[in-house]
Amino acid sequence: MAVTVLVVDADPRSCADWGALLSDRGYDVIAARDGEAALKLCLSLRPDLILLYGLLPDMCGLEVCRRLKADPRNRLTPVILHAALGDISDATSAFCAGADDFWGYTPAPWEALSRVHSLLQLKTYIDEQAESLLFSLAQRIEARDWFDGMHCVRVSNNAVRFGKGLGLCQKDLDALRIGGLLHDIGKIGIPDAILFKAGPLDAYETKIVMEHPIIGERMCAPLKSFRDVLPLIRHHHERMDGSGYPDSLCGEQIPLAVRALQIVDICDALTSDRSYRRNLSLPSALLVLREEAELGWLDGALVNQFASLVIGSEGSVALDNRRALGSTEGARWSGSSLSGRLSRRAG
Ligand SMILES: [Fe+2]
Repeated sequence: MAVTVLVVDADPRSCADWGALLSDRGYDVIAARDGEAALKLCLSLRPDLILLYGLLPDMCGLEVCRRLKADPRNRLTPVILHAALGDISDATSAFCAGADDFWGYTPAPWEALSRVHSLLQLKTYIDEQAESLLFSLAQRIEARDWFDGMHCVRVSNNAVRFGKGLGLCQKDLDALRIGGLLHDIGKIGIPDAILFKAGPLDAYETKIVMEHPIIGERMCAPLKSFRDVLPLIRHHHERMDGSGYPDSLCGEQIPLAVRALQIVDICDALTSDRSYRRNLSLPSALLVLREEAELGWLDGALVNQFASLVIGSEGSVALDNRRALGSTEGARWSGSSLSGRLSRRAG
């Protein structure tokens, strides 16, 4: 992924000078001329570093820095506050505003490049540590699930296989791989007593469980490398008819990769033992998926493609699950609406 530097400076000539210097070193440089433009650009661009001039037409650099750092999505993005002539900013107020470096003068090109490079190296290190921590947390969540500790690993592997079958691009496949592992990371914020309760959840407990996609998104938002994974984390419990959560998205408002992940996730959950029910065989799980598509919850076309992939190729996708096709418990569930009898959990 290219390293992107956002230069926020009202002076077009100064912007061009910084752009030329940084571009020569291989950085992608984007310019913003005022504070509001910088704040908006940061959300869409997710720059790796921000070089922020202290005097801007609409607000001072300190205020821009404060607002940037108040947003969890920007918290790990290094900001250099460059004081302008006549600017009252000082190092103390810059650091109080959250700046990672303060230039009280215009450094020579070699010094500027050296300080930019150091901050980017530090950011890379912090990102790697944070990613590692999040993956460890996801494993910890799996490990505390004494009924089935490998759900997310299977979902990750099978989602990528399903995504390849759907012809998704590499970026979506990468997001599915990571999203499969991290989609339930927000469950770290759900008490075990609720998560592993043997029996139906009451309204309050259900509400608590339904917060896990938002908690998970918030945890992963500061990392640029997880940007494409955030929709998978936030929306993996949306439904095609808008009855899902947390945003009640409808139909194609739910990204294709998310709809694919949902099917793989549900199939694996159904074919796994849970504290509140025994596992289903794969054929029975596919019937439930079809019922949920008919109810308007899942993408019916995708469910059909998933079923074709699973049934059509032995050893493919859901056959990674421990259950073999044609297991005997079909009789246990046959004869009535499967999804109605399963009372699948909100999480
Ligand atoms: Fe979930």
